[in-house]
Amino acid sequence: MFFLGIDLGTSSVKILLLANDGKVLQTVTKDYPVYYPKPGWAEQNPEDWWDATRKGIREILDMTAGTAQEVKGIGLSGQMHGMVLLDQEDRVLMPALLWCDQRTQDECDELTEQLGFKLSEYTGNKALAGFTAPKVLWVRRNRPEIYRRIAHVLLPKDYIRWRLTGDYATDVSDASGTLFFDVARREWSREMLVFLGLSEQVLPTCYESYEITGHVSKQANAETGLCAGIPVVGGGGDQASGAVGTGVVAAGGASVALGTSGVVFACQENYSVDKENRLHSFCHANGKWHVMGVMLSAASCLKWWVEEVCQLDGSAGYTALLEEAAAVPPGSEGLVFLPYLLGERTPYSDPYARGTFVGLTMTHTRKHMTRAILEGVAFGLRDSLEIIRQQHIPVDEVRVSGGGAKSVLWRQILADILGLPVCLVNSVEGPAFGAAILAAVGVGAFEGVEKACSAIIRTVEQTEPLTANIAKYNELYAIYHRLYGTLRQTFRELGKI
Ligand code: XUL
Repeated sequence: MFFLGIDLGTSSVKILLLANDGKVLQTVTKDYPVYYPKPGWAEQNPEDWWDATRKGIREILDMTAGTAQEVKGIGLSGQMHGMVLLDQEDRVLMPALLWCDQRTQDECDELTEQLGFKLSEYTGNKALAGFTAPKVLWVRRNRPEIYRRIAHVLLPKDYIRWRLTGDYATDVSDASGTLFFDVARREWSREMLVFLGLSEQVLPTCYESYEITGHVSKQANAETGLCAGIPVVGGGGDQASGAVGTGVVAAGGASVALGTSGVVFACQENYSVDKENRLHSFCHANGKWHVMGVMLSAASCLKWWVEEVCQLDGSAGYTALLEEAAAVPPGSEGLVFLPYLLGERTPYSDPYARGTFVGLTMTHTRKHMTRAILEGVAFGLRDSLEIIRQQHIPVDEVRVSGGGAKSVLWRQILADILGLPVCLVNSVEGPAFGAAILAAVGVGAFEGVEKACSAIIRTVEQTEPLTANIAKYNELYAIYHRLYGTLRQTFRELGKI
């Protein structure tokens, strides 16, 4: 018996075949482009997603001959918050606007001004430029001819579901990131739909992540080679699915994703929200809830530094720079990096925030700058952890995932700056793995998400924080934490130039 996990990421789709003993049989990744038509805009073509996904599914089935008949369930995961609009004939009305698209600050201001504290009451969250509701408002204001023709609003992974099954459906964890979902009640928010002028009929039916939403259609069978009739479960947004994939499903559990974005994620037994909505309060994929803080640039800061600035290519470039940085003492000899290369979301929802090195002297070299970047990203993650701690949400350790987690140096820096053990688990496939687990639960191969995770996932390596470094980093964190406030106005002025 096998399960397919499909994670529709921002730069590629990852498809994974999981056996019911928890072993990953095969993975396939297929890339597609992101378009940046104007500064701050980020779009993709949903047809590119489907093209990559159907080719990837065919490829994985070909690579594992004989498995097609044995695939018993499919789980979907994907980049959150994106907006896909279809008309009555199911034609895509415009490119999908992505989670990292920052064009909607005016619409966020409008939502905040007009709804005030009710926004949090209705949705559990505040208006952030990446979320779906401000995107819908942007279309209403700037593309009225498209707004009038909207027949379906889908999230990115749910466009793939529609191509696979013909059903308009989503899951509670992904719906949480739309800002028209009542996270406490786990259903669409009628109040928000009225405000946005959307009828509930244009929205997908919402399921729990482990519930079956539909079955592979004959058409999808012809396009992918998957047997018609395979059940497809709700799945989850990439963060909730990623948490399932690292076994972060019980109270006290927390994870850090060091991917393109950086995320601190903590499980909650019950729904709660902090007064200022500094954290996202979302439904988890296990029937419970979670909070999270999201940095817009994490491992992408290192990628920018290695590939764009230092012009080094491939893994040799990364290895060389990380080796150099390991020789620099903690604190980078007084150099601090602010990682706001794409603006920021948590703890400051500010599209104008900018990346910055503070404290440069003649003694600093490339190696100090590399280390300061690793430290700056970890400080940014600590900002989110501090808010989680203020909410009295227990965090005993963090399970780390994402490209950045491969670096021993970055894991040590993270442990020292967060003051917590940082664990690597036996699965490195993140959201695609989590989506496949949700499929296995959905078809009854396991008795629940927690039971599936404890049967399949275990810690394989643990990095303890070093006492001497904790003190040093605490001192530096206080400086880091003050810098954004000092520079906020300057960032706005620079943004106008
Ligand atoms: C979560 C978020 C990102 C995107 C892209 O709120 O914005 O995780 O889903 O990965």
